[in-house]
Amino acid sequence: MNKNTDNDNEYNYTQKGPAFMVNVTFCRLGRNIPAPFAGYVLPYVRKHIMQLEGDAPVTVLGAMWNGLACAAAVAEWAEDGGELLSLFVDPKARGCGVAGHLLDLMLEEGARLGKKSLYLNYILKDSELAAMDALVESRNGSLENGAPVCGIASDDFLDSPLLGPALRPGWKKPGNIRLFSELTQRQLEQLEVQEGLPVFLRPSALGEKVDPALSVVWVEDEEPAAFALSFQCGDRMFCLSSSWRGPRAPEGSFRALICTQVNQCWYRSGGSFVFFISPINPRSAAMAEWFTGGNYEPYTQREALIPIPANR
Ligand SMILES: CC(C)(COP(=O)(O)OP(=O)(O)OC[C@H]1O[C@@H](n2cnc3c(N)ncnc32)[C@H](O)[C@@H]1OP(=O)(O)O)[C@@H](O)C(=O)NCCC(=O)NCCS
Repeated sequence: MNKNTDNDNEYNYTQKGPAFMVNVTFCRLGRNIPAPFAGYVLPYVRKHIMQLEGDAPVTVLGAMWNGLACAAAVAEWAEDGGELLSLFVDPKARGCGVAGHLLDLMLEEGARLGKKSLYLNYILKDSELAAMDALVESRNGSLENGAPVCGIASDDFLDSPLLGPALRPGWKKPGNIRLFSELTQRQLEQLEVQEGLPVFLRPSALGEKVDPALSVVWVEDEEPAAFALSFQCGDRMFCLSSSWRGPRAPEGSFRALICTQVNQCWYRSGGSFVFFISPINPRSAAMAEWFTGGNYEPYTQREALIPIPANR
């Protein structure tokens, strides 16, 4: 758990958790999340809330165990409802009701703001999925969707002839590949209007789910010809949000893109990580197979909605 620092925004809520929570206090945090809590908020969420207007309706809550930061939650509010953008509890503090209490405080905040519901979208498996589902259901929420997602552990492809080389020192990205952050304005515009590229796969449709330092583009004659876009979706977790290969991209370009992406994830996480691909269609399912030779973990992507009664 992280050592806390002085924070003016801090205040204790009335304790109403079980007896073992007497040493846990909860606090409201600013959008510029103090260092001890920052590690408990997904990087893309931290970036997103920092970029919002000054008075944007965002609530950031933290939890401390014996004075040490141990969890955080972030919600963004729209006109009628809100979205829980992040909820993370330190592994050492799990199973003690910390997440449940943070969620209750967030729902109270929603009621105070006159909101009617809180939406959640998470990718988890096993006990974490069971815990999140239980959290939602015990607050009268509905579990709306359960799409399978392939989670590929980087350690499993160290020996893969396809991707292993990208995780070894000395690997160099091919000259035709640009990071999204290196594209010119013209190339960014060209990316949006590629012939045959569905609207939902365009970078502009994905917003914060395109991390410019993790997303990569293959260029032919300085024009985009294929891409793989991704973002960090959790602690050492990365998610492929969109990929596309146009007719001008040569054989092998897509593999080179994925290798570059994996290499960037490796450096970002400083070691092992999980890479997620949604098998939403036969092509992406085949891609997950190709990546791993069938050696992947089944995760579930869940959408959920918790109603917020007015008198909560
Ligand atoms: C999921 C997570 C937030 C749960 O945190 P936690 O502090 O351990 O959760 P709690 O102790 O409050 O328990 C939550 C609920 O799950 C239940 N639960 C806990 N472990 C469970 C398990 N293995 N199986 C079934 N239910 C379980 C608890 O009984 C509780 O239900 P209740 O509210 O009806 O009493 C935590 O594991 C975590 O941070 N995971 C990584 C990040 C993440 O997955 N975030 C969610 C996506 S935004």
